[in-house]
Amino acid sequence: MMRLVIDTDPGVDDAHAIMAAAAYPNARIEAVTTVRGNVSLERTTANARTILDVMGINAPIYAGCGQALVAENSGAEGFHGADGLGDSGYPASPRPAEKEHAVHALIRLANAEPGALTLVAIGPLTNLALALRLDPTLPQKYRRLMVMGGAIRSMGNTTLTAEFNFHADPEAAAIVLRDWGSLTLVSWETTVEHPFSETQIKALLALDSPRAKFFRRISQGALAFLEQILGHPTLLEPDLLAMAIALEPEIVQRQEAHFVQVELSGALTRGQTCVDWYGTSGEQPNVEIALELNTNRVWELLRAALT
Ligand code: RIB
Ligand code: CA
Repeated sequence: MMRLVIDTDPGVDDAHAIMAAAAYPNARIEAVTTVRGNVSLERTTANARTILDVMGINAPIYAGCGQALVAENSGAEGFHGADGLGDSGYPASPRPAEKEHAVHALIRLANAEPGALTLVAIGPLTNLALALRLDPTLPQKYRRLMVMGGAIRSMGNTTLTAEFNFHADPEAAAIVLRDWGSLTLVSWETTVEHPFSETQIKALLALDSPRAKFFRRISQGALAFLEQILGHPTLLEPDLLAMAIALEPEIVQRQEAHFVQVELSGALTRGQTCVDWYGTSGEQPNVEIALELNTNRVWELLRAALT
């Protein structure tokens, strides 16, 4: 049984990732920790509660950091909607969030069961960076860390060179990449290279379960946004790709280990992912970069969550 802790900023694609994990037969969501990212902490936490309600999952939710470590950044309401779930207008969930802060929960959960939990981080890394500062042994106590973030060829989706999660809190990303030791990364470029096709999208939209209706309501704005930008129906799933790899590592068909850092001070490059592709830094690799994935299997995992 894969036991998951999900650090997230729901977020439409975060929702898809959590839905796939919730429905996966050989996985259990042990906890969800929320962070300010796509929308405010209040909204990401409310959205996490709604998503777990829809999926019928009774996992605790811990609210985390409402601000980045250093500079405040804007969210991604343009893509995810003002409410973070496609302006779908779901009523607030009666489910309470826990009183314990997410950073303390991330530390407590790993120390309670060293080696038992897989951590999937699909938002800005603020919570993880602080948890790492409070407990530097944390990387040895999580079985694996899976991260969605970064633009490995600096083809940014937020600035010209930076991806949203790393740009939203570059200092946090720099700390986690430098001090976690080893993690697996799904980047923005890998996301763009593994889209769902129009046929796959239509098959998902044709499903008729209550979960499928939720998927349609929260995703229609994102689908329209992507079609307008890219000129054809497509669905990019950064967080779902990361979650799918955590659930089934064999989904990765090609990966490379490299030394990766995050730029903190460039006027044009703050939040840029700097990859030592040629091994010239002399530093040991700290990231397994997922490069080629079985997209159809990822699609199957989401489809299974909507039936
Ligand atoms: O760049 C994509 C990432 O930013 C995803 O995690 C998405 O949810 C947004 O947070
Ligand atoms: Ca996210």
